[in-house]
Amino acid sequence: MLNLQTQLGNFQFANPLMNASGVHCMDKTELDEMVASASGSLVTKSATVKPRPGNPEPRYADLTLGSINSMGLPNLGIDYYLDYVQQYQQEHPNQPIFMSIVGTTFEDNIAVARRIQESDFNGLAEINLSCPNVPGEPQTAYDPDQTVKILDELFTFFTKPLGVKLPPFFDLAQFDQMAAILNRYPLAFINTMNSLGNGLMIDPATDTVMIKPKGGFGGIGGAFAKPIALANVRAFRQRLRPEIAIIGTGGVQTGRDVYDLILCGANMVQVGTALHQQGTGIFDRLLSELSGVMQTKGYSSLAEFRGQLKTIE
Ligand code: SIN
Repeated sequence: MLNLQTQLGNFQFANPLMNASGVHCMDKTELDEMVASASGSLVTKSATVKPRPGNPEPRYADLTLGSINSMGLPNLGIDYYLDYVQQYQQEHPNQPIFMSIVGTTFEDNIAVARRIQESDFNGLAEINLSCPNVPGEPQTAYDPDQTVKILDELFTFFTKPLGVKLPPFFDLAQFDQMAAILNRYPLAFINTMNSLGNGLMIDPATDTVMIKPKGGFGGIGGAFAKPIALANVRAFRQRLRPEIAIIGTGGVQTGRDVYDLILCGANMVQVGTALHQQGTGIFDRLLSELSGVMQTKGYSSLAEFRGQLKTIE
């Protein structure tokens, strides 16, 4: 018998799959479809204190190997998502849900986190320190001092399970530096990684950028992202305290991609571009393919191969 259950802190999930925040989680209709899907959990769209319309369209384009987006954090505001999770928690008391929050300023990050702390939300919160798509604003987690400032302040009042959504890192010295910072806090998890920030793609028919915001610069997801996501999960698993779980995000198209992220150390795995392109039915296929890989390898649970990536001596 295959067991696909996974754990993140004290929270149990029937399987490791969920949506990436920003995909299939904007409103009640999309969130309800996620709830009805075969995924093990779900996360709400990164919420700001007040609703945001996001960037002008076109702000998303499919690419041969993935996608480019500069959505700009469109969302219905923290109160909308708190209302949703309140109802969800009543209907699904044993199925934990994630809420993603974000601020475009230090003050807003703190204010939106306070709203969660003061609510009766009993799931896991994820603070998004990595959105590449707000014009004029850098990705917070690329600034170690700002990251420390936010986490220092958050942990003066935030007592619920909290994780951080990180951007991709590329240098081993960056992994060392960021892991040393993150290890100082009682984080429940990290989510690595957000899209590959500020990529650019060109429509060959018109010699024009493919999305409108930021002169065409946008976050790259999909197959392009897989090797970087594997490296980020692996590098952080090697450096973080074992109590800090890892959600692996980036480049999942098949069950083997899910397996690979778990092999690098992921406790849960999020699906972004492929979910956007294929809809929530993708979770049935991914679970069936993951089960097939596990059966071929002779594994009956995720714990048997999590973090067991082999290197060449
Ligand atoms: C967006 O809304 O721009 C995407 C979310 C993110 O990359 O954090």
